Amino acid sequence: MRILITGGAGFIGSHLVEAHLEKGDEVYIIDDLSTGSLDNIAPYQNNNRYKKRIFFQRESILNHEAMLELIGICDMVYHLAAAVGVQYILDNPLESIKINIQGTEKVLELCTKFKKKALIASSSEVYGKHLHAPLVETDNIVYGPSSKFRWSYAASKLMDEFTALAYFRNKGLWVTIVRLFNTVGPRQTGAYGMVVPRFVEQALDNKPLTVYGDGTQSRTFTYVKDVVEALMALMEADAAAGEVYNIGGTEEITIMDLAKRVIDLTGSSSTIQLVPYEKAFVKDFEDMHRRVPSIEKIKKLIGFEPKTDLDTILSNVVDSVKRQKKNR
Ligand SMILES: NC(=O)c1ccc[n+]([C@@H]2O[C@H](COP(=O)([O-])OP(=O)(O)OC[C@H]3O[C@@H](n4cnc5c(N)ncnc54)[C@H](O)[C@@H]3O)[C@@H](O)[C@H]2O)c1
Repeated sequence: MRILITGGAGFIGSHLVEAHLEKGDEVYIIDDLSTGSLDNIAPYQNNNRYKKRIFFQRESILNHEAMLELIGICDMVYHLAAAVGVQYILDNPLESIKINIQGTEKVLELCTKFKKKALIASSSEVYGKHLHAPLVETDNIVYGPSSKFRWSYAASKLMDEFTALAYFRNKGLWVTIVRLFNTVGPRQTGAYGMVVPRFVEQALDNKPLTVYGDGTQSRTFTYVKDVVEALMALMEADAAAGEVYNIGGTEEITIMDLAKRVIDLTGSSSTIQLVPYEKAFVKDFEDMHRRVPSIEKIKKLIGFEPKTDLDTILSNVVDSVKRQKKNR
């Protein structure tokens, strides 16, 4: 099989690249390296078992000719390329909206033209300002006003979902949508505000762990390899077409407790420093207080259950950040 992974040099994308190479597929990657890195895929490009089956193009998904050619030759498309991370969205609001909306539409249009299967990466952010848990795919959605750019990421991902579902209904495109909850593991960078790699880097440097707000906000964390397994299984599941699935962990933890856990695990002498949201981001910043998925729907379809517990996830991230620091 020939697999196209947009954003394949990114965190989740590079793990998906590895899994498809391991399966024996040819893997094509388009990535402009805006938040991704060649270091993420270099081990596969340099590996004798894989190097004849991995093809990388440094290009934007907004380049029509490049996408036309790639989608034309591949059998299925995982669309992961996006402007990602709250900080990145706040710093690049216009570019982010363009990439997330126009880029996804291009994938959907070309997959329809060539009759290729598509998986679209959406986000738990689409749920907006809910306080209840667990979040179910059919829940209503509540956002802040358009003056608060933080919500533009959620709104653009929601628009991607509407567009994908419209292509499914009106054009018969085989497309499935995943709402990813906080996904973590080796190669994720803390540079754009992702909490786990940021805490681990701070702890290893014995610097204060900066907890935004009062630290009572909670999240669940899923190991990237569990997520990749689910993505691949969904692509093979006929009934996934035209559907939206949560993919996430079920072990809820507050950000304060996460910080404590990282300090314990690393044996760090770091303290915890609370940073008000308006200092970390912008004035009147709104966060999602809880973000816990219901995974009943995906469990029923493909038997998905996160296998990796939080301590194992954190240990793997610590090892990976240590390795990165050594190579710097
Ligand atoms: N990691 C998470 O917790 C999480 C949660 C929810 C949703 N997601 C979604 O999963 C997908 C992958 O996220 P990730 O965590 O691996 O982030 P990432 O930043 O590592 O990956 C995104 C990749 O897309 C590339 N990219 C961005 N704009 C591009 C463009 N115009 N053309 C080509 N490539 C471009 C980046 O260089 C990067 O390699 C994204 O769609 C993201 O919205 C991730």
